[in-house]
Amino acid sequence: MSTHRDVKRPADTLFPIDPVIAGRWSSRAIDPEQPVEQAQVQRLLEAARWAPSSFNNQPWEFLVLTRDDPKALKKGRAALMAGNAWALNAPVLMFSLAKVHFRGKTRENWRRGFETGMAALSMAFQAVHEGLVFHQMAGFSADELRTAFDISEEYDIYTAIAVGVPGREDLLEEQKREAEHEQRTRLQPDELFSWNGWSE
Ligand SMILES: Cc1cc2nc3c(=O)[nH]c(=O)nc-3n(C[C@H](O)[C@H](O)[C@H](O)COP(=O)(O)O)c2cc1C
Repeated sequence: MSTHRDVKRPADTLFPIDPVIAGRWSSRAIDPEQPVEQAQVQRLLEAARWAPSSFNNQPWEFLVLTRDDPKALKKGRAALMAGNAWALNAPVLMFSLAKVHFRGKTRENWRRGFETGMAALSMAFQAVHEGLVFHQMAGFSADELRTAFDISEEYDIYTAIAVGVPGREDLLEEQKREAEHEQRTRLQPDELFSWNGWSE
């Protein structure tokens, strides 16, 4: 059963779920002419800030690059891999990071990646609400980013995130343009969920 909201590719869900969750998807068709308002970026970050974490220690950090500082944005863009050239259209580029040790403690927080993922997903849902593209990428060089911004080894670097206003499929190369319309798929529930006993 599909849920519908004002989004282009809502998930064709097996059961009805919240339209914001069904409506989140990873578009690449960002309009380079349309700015993302500062207030919108702040709302995305606010959504991340309210994610849950163990001991409420909040290990996530986000590097936020905007057109307000073209030099910094250029440095961030330079870390993207060629396959993610579409993301150069994004007026806002973020990177998700996590602090290796619990804040205020010497102990390593080995759930930091999990928690940072939750903060990123909170932002993704807020982006659906805002009508923005929010597309995470593993395709970038964390080493290049680390060097460019002098990020210490105390931080893991997880994803690049392109944020922008949707609507410019015509700027995409053919394969990526087609991907905007391909059926969104997921594994079946019995491959993912074990009820009342474990099965592999
Ligand atoms: C950690 C992570 C890394 C990803 N890396 C890339 C990437 O480098 N380039 C890209 O175009 N999409 C990337 N994606 C997007 C995924 O391909 C996409 O989320 C997946 O196909 C499911 O599609 P949906 O988000 O539209 O539901 C990434 C997503 C995540 C969460």
